[in-house]
Amino acid sequence: MRISVIGCGYLGAVHASAMVELGHDVVGVDVDGAKIAQLAAAKPPFFEPGLPEILTSASASGRLRFSTDIADAADATVHFVAVGTPQTRDGRAADLSYVDAAIEGLLPFLKPGDLVVGKSTVPVGTAARLASVIAGRGNGATLAWNPEFLREGYAVRDTIEPDRLVYGVADERAAAVLDEVYAAALAAGTPRIVTDYATAELVKVSANAFLATKISFINAMAEIAEATGADVTQLADALGHDTRIGRRFLNAGVGFGGGCLPKDIRAFTARAEELGRGESVVFLKEVDAINLRQRQRVVDRAIEALGGSVHGRKIVVLGVTFKPESDDVRDSPALDVAVQLKGLGADVVATDPQGIENARLRHPQLSYEPDLDLALRDADLVVLVTEWRPYRDLDPVRVGASVRARTIIDARNVLDPETWRAAGWHYRGMGRASGA
Ligand code: UGA
Repeated sequence: MRISVIGCGYLGAVHASAMVELGHDVVGVDVDGAKIAQLAAAKPPFFEPGLPEILTSASASGRLRFSTDIADAADATVHFVAVGTPQTRDGRAADLSYVDAAIEGLLPFLKPGDLVVGKSTVPVGTAARLASVIAGRGNGATLAWNPEFLREGYAVRDTIEPDRLVYGVADERAAAVLDEVYAAALAAGTPRIVTDYATAELVKVSANAFLATKISFINAMAEIAEATGADVTQLADALGHDTRIGRRFLNAGVGFGGGCLPKDIRAFTARAEELGRGESVVFLKEVDAINLRQRQRVVDRAIEALGGSVHGRKIVVLGVTFKPESDDVRDSPALDVAVQLKGLGADVVATDPQGIENARLRHPQLSYEPDLDLALRDADLVVLVTEWRPYRDLDPVRVGASVRARTIIDARNVLDPETWRAAGWHYRGMGRASGA
């Protein structure tokens, strides 16, 4: 099939390459010329494991092109819209201007039988509105909503072998076209749910709301665990054995960040309020509040660890991205903690395997040191905020020799407290007994 993908960010660039992998001819379109030039040279403009490989093989096959001109989407019969829906300036609703612009841009090139497929995360009701915009043009094209559930860091696998496919459609033909697009994944046994627009849109936002709630739930338990001497990691293990609960997304720590979970729960709340149903999701405000409190708790812990003031002390922040295996620093809890500590007068040195360039653009006031050993030298306090493999594997004896004080805050609960304490460290986790 001939496919266009409008928007080549984290979602679209992976989707475009993966569609070639599934056997299609693809053109990726984006207004950002620099990004398109990089993709056309088979160089991903961001870090995503596995993307360089599929981008290279897709480009070499001659079945993947990139363009800044939406007219190049004219040959395609299926058009995926994968542009961003960031938070609006007031920090609540989703900004739909890129989605609207993508649809407007496509309209002159749509032909009878074309299918426009929305992938962006949108407030429920958007697809129905866009379907009437497309129908109003009378060019015989239709709309489907096919939300995306990929995780950064696993985006390639999640796109090629998704957990499930959800089609929000207004007619059977649209479902048949999507079946053809995803034939390879369906043949491999991927479950598919065919439903209406509103349900498809809601599956996406409610999945993210559920995941966010799960994380805030365990972080709330971490607060209680701390007040009682209990250990939240053991609590999560024990809860997780109940298959109705499950162990995944029960890792307590500094909380969730990124371009999706925080903004999606706020946009969902705003949309529910617009619909007069704000009270149904009022708990999401608490989920957000618990989440933001974790960042503050890490900062408070740092102040406490340094005897009441961080002023002039060297604090090494391990990790700046919102999670490992990504260079994404959008709404990163790690950066938030680093910036707060810097604001309190600490000499903050942040390090990260992939995120320094993006972090520096947002927070040039922080000091960055890409070399882990150099970063750690003479530290008064080490704060592990993003659980990259090299930080999980740190040897407390070796690191202990180069720091000024052996004090570590493990804001992701990924280190073994006993090993670190045995090496002479003062170890503090989140929701774990503070120890001797
Ligand atoms: C999330 C969803 O997991 C995807 O299914 C969805 O497609 C995506 O948003 C999206 O809407 O585009 P992502 O933001 O890439 O994916 O990252 P997650 O793996 O969900 O992690 C989100 C945050 O939660 C990270 O900051 C992570 O450190 C944190 N987290 C995760 C925890 O604090 N505890 C956990 O147990 C799990």
